[in-house]
Amino acid sequence: MNILLASSEVHPYSKSGGLADMVGALGKFVARHGHHVSVVTPLYSNILERFPEIKPFDWKLDLPLGNQYVQGNVYARHFEDQLTIYFIDQKHFYQRTALYSDKGVDYPDNAERFAFFSKAVVNLARYMPEPFDVVHVHDWQAALVPLLILNQKWHEGWHNAPPTCLTIHNLAYQGIFPKEKYAVTNLSADFFNPNGAEGYGMFNFLKAGISYSDLITTVSPRYAREITTEQFGCGLDGALRQRQNALLGVLNGVDYDEWQTIDNPHLDHPYSLKKFAGKEAEKLALQKEMGLPADPDIPLFGSVTRLAEQKGVDIQLGALEEMLAANMQFVLLGSGSKEYERAYTKLAARYPTKCGVKIGFDQGLSHRIEAGCDFFLMPSRFEPCGLNQMYSLRYGTIPIVRVTGGLDDSVTDISENEEKADGIKFTEYSVRSLAKAIRKALVLYDDKRLLRRYRINGVKKDFSWDRTAKAYEKVYRRLVPAREPALV
Ligand code: ADP
Ligand code: GLC
Repeated sequence: MNILLASSEVHPYSKSGGLADMVGALGKFVARHGHHVSVVTPLYSNILERFPEIKPFDWKLDLPLGNQYVQGNVYARHFEDQLTIYFIDQKHFYQRTALYSDKGVDYPDNAERFAFFSKAVVNLARYMPEPFDVVHVHDWQAALVPLLILNQKWHEGWHNAPPTCLTIHNLAYQGIFPKEKYAVTNLSADFFNPNGAEGYGMFNFLKAGISYSDLITTVSPRYAREITTEQFGCGLDGALRQRQNALLGVLNGVDYDEWQTIDNPHLDHPYSLKKFAGKEAEKLALQKEMGLPADPDIPLFGSVTRLAEQKGVDIQLGALEEMLAANMQFVLLGSGSKEYERAYTKLAARYPTKCGVKIGFDQGLSHRIEAGCDFFLMPSRFEPCGLNQMYSLRYGTIPIVRVTGGLDDSVTDISENEEKADGIKFTEYSVRSLAKAIRKALVLYDDKRLLRRYRINGVKKDFSWDRTAKAYEKVYRRLVPAREPALV
């Protein structure tokens, strides 16, 4: 099949969270399964400097955007195995210090920036010489694509336009703008209604995607069920229930080429189940790096996260206040809300020998925390999939997770399966429940045989992308009508 993927983040070019990891790996592994894959993403600052392999592509964009025409260029990086990454170059829109916001405030022209991106995707989808079998878009930033394609199919002569799939990585981010911004689509008002791109009187990019894509996926089976309920639906549960027959959950995979403990440029002490000593060396190095006393016997907890409400930061802060008096240490790498950044910095100042905090985004340190910790905390309020708990399992680090979304689908608690337990789960969203889970971890830490069994179970668990790529191939086949066998 010839597949086009569109996403506002793709690892290793741009990343603010798991979306980048997921789309980067999806492209790579679907291509490895023998398909032709084109990934389209914006050309942000520094990408060309970091990747000299990216070259100009012979393509000019000149697209209507409200009452103006906006021009852009395209760059491309080709890989041998049928994979090409296309970068949309529009300097005014994408050459900025961050992807979506500055100092915690969204860029005021995000509607224009991502409407232009979506139009560029459609332009490539329509006019590239090889027709695409499926266009698969990710999150609100690309969610106008299915509607733009349908419009061209119905009104602008694109009769064999490809079917579309929308993957929702996080329903909490919808791309909601005042209704006047609908003008950036240059579409007739017919699509702006409560069954289309309108949500509660506003212009809603993700709702347009939900309404007009042929299939909708989310990144775990449990989250696919959750988002059709009022509690998790972020106001779109009604729209999602209407499309229930077209909605399914596919658990993300882990790119084990990168997330591994043996041949990893970010780790100084490779380890495996057979030679596990490297993990302790990683722990000592991490304690030093985070300014904590280096002691292999103190249980070390860690977290790598966007500091957003979703991630359960408030109960984590509360539980740490309660638990840091115990014999334990905690390290955090994160960035996001200024209020949470300050709260963690204060916590570290109050417990200098117990709590180490780094505010910022640091790929290398994220690997070292996964490797060096004994336990990894993910007390999310909701979690569409979550990748860090899966990385933890592979790194022999025991995840402590709340029972929600992909966390529930990927971690096994002892109460579910005594033999296969690999993590600690708790259900109630409260400081008390998380503190209790941390206490369970401290007890587990003292039972070295059981601790080892948990680790072995985790390391052996397989979230390889082969399985996820196969699941998406199935999704694509559902969309592409079976071709008539050629008559001989
Ligand atoms: P989400 O996408 O909701 O943030 P995921 O668990 O799916 O959550 O993915 C988060 C990804 O972003 C992981 O690869 C994680 O290591 C990375 N990450 C998050 N915060 C940071 C940070 N401050 N520095 C480096 N990597 C980070
Ligand atoms: C989103 C979700 C996260 C998921 C990631 C990749 O950022 O918050 O749970 O793992 O997308 O799909």
